[in-house]
Amino acid sequence: MPDRLTTIAGAHPLQLAFDHALEYIARPQSRVAGTATLDDLRSALGVELTDTGIDAATVIEELIEACKDGLNRSSGSRFFGWVIGGTLPSALAADLLTSAWDQNAAIYAHSPAAAIVEEVAGAWLKDILNIPSTASFAFTNGCQMAHFTALAAARHHVLARFSIDIEEAGLAAAPAIRVFTSRKVHTSSVSATRMLGIGSANIHYLATNDAGQLLPEALETALQQAGEIPSIVILQAGDVNEGIYDDFATLIPIAQRHNTWVHIDGAFGLWAAASPSYAYLLNGSHLADSWAIDGHKWLNVPYDSAYAFIAHPEAHQAAMSKGASYIVASTDARDPINFNPEMSRRARGFATYAALRELGRNGIASLVDRCCRFATQLTSRIGALPHAEALNTPIINQGLVRFLNPSPTATVADHDIFTNQIITAICAEGTAFFTGTTFQGQRAMRISVCNWQTNDEDIDAVVSAVETVLATAANQVAVPHHS
Ligand SMILES: Cc1ncc(COP(=O)(O)O)c(C=O)c1O
Repeated sequence: MPDRLTTIAGAHPLQLAFDHALEYIARPQSRVAGTATLDDLRSALGVELTDTGIDAATVIEELIEACKDGLNRSSGSRFFGWVIGGTLPSALAADLLTSAWDQNAAIYAHSPAAAIVEEVAGAWLKDILNIPSTASFAFTNGCQMAHFTALAAARHHVLARFSIDIEEAGLAAAPAIRVFTSRKVHTSSVSATRMLGIGSANIHYLATNDAGQLLPEALETALQQAGEIPSIVILQAGDVNEGIYDDFATLIPIAQRHNTWVHIDGAFGLWAAASPSYAYLLNGSHLADSWAIDGHKWLNVPYDSAYAFIAHPEAHQAAMSKGASYIVASTDARDPINFNPEMSRRARGFATYAALRELGRNGIASLVDRCCRFATQLTSRIGALPHAEALNTPIINQGLVRFLNPSPTATVADHDIFTNQIITAICAEGTAFFTGTTFQGQRAMRISVCNWQTNDEDIDAVVSAVETVLATAANQVAVPHHS
C-alpha cells in the first residue's frame, strides 16, 4: 500500500497547495479571465475514478493543473464583476487554518475557540456597523442565508402577535405575511421569502423617488391599508446596480408606528458605516429589526462569510434553536447552533476575526473610501472614452457605463448588443473583468470595486485596456446590426 502522503518529490500535499497558493496570489497578476472552455475542463477534471485511489500529492498536483485555466482571478485587484471581494492575507491564512483545525462550530463544547471567536468578532462587527450591542447574530455562509436567518426571526416575531408559534404550528396555521419593499430589492431577499413559505407573490413593490429610494408616502399608505396583516419591510443599504440607500431615518419610524419588522439588506453597503465619509448614508439604520451583510464581499474575507444581526434575540433563537440529548448545550457560552440554520458548520468566524484585526477601524474605513474613489474614477474615465457614456455617479463603489455603437443609424438595441460585445471583449483581453446588467431597460457594464489590493496603477491599466478594446471594436463596426 503506498503511503498516501508520500509525494511527488517528497512534498506534503499541503505544501504543494501552499506553494501554489502563494504563487497564485502574488502580484503582478497574469490575465484575469480564465481561458479554459467547458470541454477543456470536463476533459481535464473528468478522469477515471479508481478503486484503489492515488497518492494525495498527485491528487493535488493534478487538481492544480486541471483547474488553473478555469479560474477567474476574482480575488485579484482587477476583477470588477458582480460584487466580489478578495482575500486579505490574514483572512486567507486564518481560513487555511480553519480547514486544518477542522472544527465543527455548532457548539461551544465541540470548539470552544471557534465559539468565542464568533462572540468577540460579532461584538466588533456590531460596533463597526452601528448595530445595537444587544442584537444577536449568526455567522452564515452568505448574505442569502443571512436573509433567511433574519427573516425567519421576523416571521416568528410578526406572527407571535397573533399568538401563533410558527415553528410549532407551521404555516398552515398562520395568516399570509406581506412583505413591502421596492424594485431595488436584491433577488436573494426574494429567495429567502420563498424558502420561508412567505411566498414571492406576497411581496408588494412600492414606488421609489428619482433617486431610487422607497417613497415614505408609499410605505405609509401600504402599511395603513395592510392594517392588521402581519408585515415585514425590506430596505436596501446599497443596491446592486447603483449602490442606492433607502432613507432609513424616515422609513423605519413609519414602519415602527405600524408594528412591522424592518430588515436591511446591506450585503456590501453596510460597510459604509465604517467610513466617516460615507456613514451618513446609514443614518437611522440602527433602528431596524434585522440586518444582513457579507464578509466575503467588501471585508475581503474568503468565500463562505456573512452575518445576520437581529434586534430581538428571543425571536432569533425561537426560529433557529435546536436541541437533542446528545448535543452538549453550554450554560455560559454562546452555542452558535441556536442562531444558525445549520447544525454542523465550518468555523467561519476565524477569518472574519483575522480580517477585522488586520484592518482595524481605520483600515476598514480606508478600504471603503479607496474602493469608492476607484469606482468613481473608473466610471468617469471609462464613461469619457469615445463610444462610451457613464450612467451614474457612484454613490459608493458601484458604477455603470454603457457603450455606444458608432453607426449614425444605431438603435437602442444596437447599443445593447455593442455593450454586451465590449464587455465580452474586455474580459477576453485579460487586463480586467467586468459583468453586465440591464439598467433602466438598457444593457450596461457594472463597475464594482471591492478589492483591498486595487490601486491607482490598476485603474490606469484598466482604462487603457478598455480604451484599446473599444477603439478596435468601434473600427470594426461597419453597419449597424439589426436583429
Ligand atoms: C445587495 C446584495 N444582497 C445580497 C446578495 C447575496 O449575497 P450572497 O451571494 O453572499 O448570498 C448580494 C450578492 O451580490 C447583493 O449584492
